[in-house]
Amino acid sequence: GEPTYILGIETSCDETSAAVVQDGRVVLSNVIASQADIHKRFGGVVPEVASRRHVENITLTIEEALTRAGRTLDDIHAIAVTYGPGLVGALLVGVAAAKAISFARGIPLIGVHHIAGHIYANRLVEEMRFPLVALVVSGGHTELVLMKAHGEYEILGETRDDAAGEAYDKVARALKLPYPGGPHIDRLAREGEPRVPLPRAWLEPDSYDFSFSGLKSAVLNTLHNASQRGETIDPADLAASFQDSVTEVLVEKTIRAAREYGARQVLLAGGVAANRGLRERLQQRCEAEGVALVIPPLSLCTDNAAMIAAAGYIHYQKGQFAGLDLNGVPGLPL
Ligand code: KG4
Ligand code: ZN
Repeated sequence: GEPTYILGIETSCDETSAAVVQDGRVVLSNVIASQADIHKRFGGVVPEVASRRHVENITLTIEEALTRAGRTLDDIHAIAVTYGPGLVGALLVGVAAAKAISFARGIPLIGVHHIAGHIYANRLVEEMRFPLVALVVSGGHTELVLMKAHGEYEILGETRDDAAGEAYDKVARALKLPYPGGPHIDRLAREGEPRVPLPRAWLEPDSYDFSFSGLKSAVLNTLHNASQRGETIDPADLAASFQDSVTEVLVEKTIRAAREYGARQVLLAGGVAANRGLRERLQQRCEAEGVALVIPPLSLCTDNAAMIAAAGYIHYQKGQFAGLDLNGVPGLPL
């Protein structure tokens, strides 16, 4: 039949993004205005600065997405916007823009959960096969999700304290590496050996939850104790040991879930999917287990609007539309 074009909008954190996606699978454009350079100066995302930047960028970003896709608003069947979870002031900018266009042009509105978006980034690469297990790891989230059908999410486990990316960023700060620290730790880890003993938070034997704050404390203590004794610890070895602990727990819990639920696919998503240690380990374990692994390209792993449009397409097919009372919900459950 006729192709369906969804305009996606994402402003939940520090990227202003708009995209046009055809039939939930084909990216026609995916424009991302990153604020990373501004927040770098503060060592983290400053919510007020993020909101203001979104306001400045949103209109041009949407226009650019339409232009690059070679479409106009007349071609758009629905507008899919992230309405949570995220920073409330940031979410509101995207939601307000989506509602304004929806109202002015009579285009149906769809509210999308940010994590559903991260998972659906995978569908821009490969068709989903159910049941599947998705590991979503970013600066704000660590979730292990079971899907038995499109648009149906069952959270198997999530972090009880820090998100995986947050743990990377905090350990990087302790090692005096720039923000965001994840990529720096990843690089440093390649130069070291995991010979520093660090804990693994397996939690209860049947739990799929995660916990990274104990590991982070163990790293800080190791550094502190060494300096007290006048010893030095090779930062590369410490980075390698930290990475080993994080990736072992993430990968083993994912594989256990894949086995328990007979998953046909394992999906990886979120900014930490960039981590080479994690990708390699997950690749090896999925191969050994005989389960297909999908990892989107980096540009689709970090926050972007194409993934929001892809997730929104499922709502479109199910006729799940939002009213003009749609609001940003910072703690929105999946
Ligand atoms: O998904 P994302 O771009 O933003 C959200 O948090 O939603 O993820 C950013 C996070 C940061 O914590 C960053 O340090 C981490 O992903 N990250 C990495 C790597 N690249 C980015 N963590 C570990 N290894 C990497 N190579
Ligand atoms: Zn995200």
